[in-house]
Amino acid sequence: MVAPMAPRKIIIDTDPGQDDAVAILLALAAPEDLDVLGITAVAGNVPLALTQKNVRIICELAGRTDIPVYAGADAPLRHKLVTAEHVHGKTGLDGPRLPDPQMPLADGHAVDFIIETLTAQPAGTVTLVPLGPLTNIATAFEKAPHITGKVAEIVLMGGAYFEVGNITPTAEFNIYVDPEAAEIVFKSGVPLTVMPLDVTHKALTTRPRVEAFRNLGNQSGRMVAEWTDFFERFDKEKYGSAGAPLHDPCTIAYLLDPDLFKGRHINVEIETQSQLTRGMTVADWWRVTDRPANATFMGDVDADGFFRLLTQRIARLP
Ligand code: RIB
Ligand code: CA
Repeated sequence: MVAPMAPRKIIIDTDPGQDDAVAILLALAAPEDLDVLGITAVAGNVPLALTQKNVRIICELAGRTDIPVYAGADAPLRHKLVTAEHVHGKTGLDGPRLPDPQMPLADGHAVDFIIETLTAQPAGTVTLVPLGPLTNIATAFEKAPHITGKVAEIVLMGGAYFEVGNITPTAEFNIYVDPEAAEIVFKSGVPLTVMPLDVTHKALTTRPRVEAFRNLGNQSGRMVAEWTDFFERFDKEKYGSAGAPLHDPCTIAYLLDPDLFKGRHINVEIETQSQLTRGMTVADWWRVTDRPANATFMGDVDADGFFRLLTQRIARLP
């Protein structure tokens, strides 16, 4: 009998955001697969004061007040913060009404938690899962360069190639908000798996998929459905699509079942100089340069399998 694999240690860095919330619920519903060492909040969809509060709301919803939640960067490295209330609403978690969190923030800054955890844990055992602008991750790498050699893998949601931009004609939001941070991460040499809009736009919350969450009969399923009811209006109007892309949960689903996704190991660099194309992920998908491959850039997902996994796991929550 083969001994079950030990759960994979991860740190989630996030800017909730309804899709971040679904990703966090998915991770917390799989303790036998994922050991969430902590969750670090970053400014992004909404300001830090709200993202750090939203993370705690989500942990309480999942019945996981044991998870340490840290507040991190309240602004990008070089630019003024750009937020996305037009997509996520004023609170960042618009849709269902949720009570303020009771659980406290953990003491200390998110960046120091990332550095201390990676320093203490054996090399190659901790995976970083950024779901928002990469400010916390880049700051940690700059403050303690030795930790880049300790990270097992970074599995992030961000960027776009064939889908091009969602916040400007050429840039995806997470990368656009802090392109200098993204450049540090993409040049860090840490193994990178990237979930760009190219793949997340194939994971759409169609009505049957949303109703499957609502019909689970638990509070978490109802919350996921009501967050989606709110969150999807923007993308359906903009793209005329059959639902909203569930961006961030693609990272956690990849950790749980990598065979759901297909992509290429290619070179991806970040535009930081041009005002016009700031934050563009220049993905050498056709390998027309000799720039070294630094990222597995996903382009396809088994959407039915993705939603089956999501629904099965959310069913386990309160
Ligand atoms: O562009 C989509 C990304 O930006 C998602 O992570 C969403 O939550 C926002 O942060
Ligand atoms: Ca996000």
